Amino acid sequence: MPRTVRPTAYGTPDVLAIIETPMPRPAADGVVVQVRAAGVNPIDWKLYSGAFHTVADKHKDSAGLAETMPRLGLECAGVVTAIGADVTDARIGDEVIVYPVAGAYADYVTAPATSLIPKPAGLGWPEAGSLILAGATAMHALHATTVGQGDTVLIHGGSGGVGLLAVQLAAAAGATVIATAAERNHDLLRELDALPVNYGPGLLDRVRAAAPDGVTAAIDCAGSDEALDTSLELVTDRRRIASITGTDRRAAAGIKVIGNGPGQDAGAEYRNTIRSELAARAASGELRVLIDSIYPLDEAAQAHKAGIAGHTPGKLVLVP
Ligand SMILES: NC(=O)c1ccc[n+]([C@@H]2O[C@H](COP(=O)([O-])OP(=O)(O)OC[C@H]3O[C@@H](n4cnc5c(N)ncnc54)[C@H](OP(=O)(O)O)[C@@H]3O)[C@@H](O)[C@H]2O)c1
Repeated sequence: MPRTVRPTAYGTPDVLAIIETPMPRPAADGVVVQVRAAGVNPIDWKLYSGAFHTVADKHKDSAGLAETMPRLGLECAGVVTAIGADVTDARIGDEVIVYPVAGAYADYVTAPATSLIPKPAGLGWPEAGSLILAGATAMHALHATTVGQGDTVLIHGGSGGVGLLAVQLAAAAGATVIATAAERNHDLLRELDALPVNYGPGLLDRVRAAAPDGVTAAIDCAGSDEALDTSLELVTDRRRIASITGTDRRAAAGIKVIGNGPGQDAGAEYRNTIRSELAARAASGELRVLIDSIYPLDEAAQAHKAGIAGHTPGKLVLVP
């Protein structure tokens, strides 16, 4: 029987269980994909942590305990194994990237055909399965703040899954990039053409020293008060500060808040349009998808524990 990873209650990663399920069937406008690699993202553990009860409650179903909990895994890459009656642009055997999707922590997942893009042959399964959510978030943040040639952009959390892609995309767009990270990740950031600085007390002075001509835009992938306050101090135009995470103070500060919460910019349409571009740039090697660790499906809890610890340089990936 195909396996899926489900939370059995709200709580820590210890609530995750492997459940056997019947082989899924495609909807008329959808497909079934055999998952080869599923990206792990912080939203996955936040969904069953209890932090978003109102979001998770939308997924409730009266069928039973497991069905009442969120379906984990919002992106993957795999092979199409079944096609709905109304689908004309996918074939069995197609190698695809799937985003957005729900329930990709599984051997097989159903997805609307609109969530598929072709997986470039030159892109590995782990990279293809973990690129799009973080990459689209990074591109969305840079787009929202119009980062380009001549800018000096400060990227907080530059060594995380989103941050590493934002650093590369900003540098490729012609910006000078200053990225905050722990010391052990500084060489990696230099390789990616960024100027690394440590986060923590004294950040403002360190960034000023690294950018004597000033900072024109900031992307906060860290969500700390320090990241918000430093950005507000350094960037004159608040429309050129974006945060992908953090507290309600962000909205009050008048910056761009990217996310699915009330009043936030989800950017779904923009994100859909840039999926293929991201995949092509990753396949060509222009964009490096850095993988921190790959876990087998039945070690999803260990992957989440590593992610929750908060210092993984690159993506976590599950492989069935
Ligand atoms: N709005 C959206 O659409 C969206 C999409 C994706 C993610 N997110 C959110 O954005 C955040 C980052 O996601 P991610 O996938 O990049 O997470 P991640 O891969 O877990 O990266 C976290 C990074 O944060 C850095 N960090 C830890 N403490 C820090 C601090 N005090 N100051 C600065 N950096 C610090 C760590 O760097 P070091 O290892 O160098 O310490 C780590 O590499 C999460 O909260 C996630 O939920 C939002």
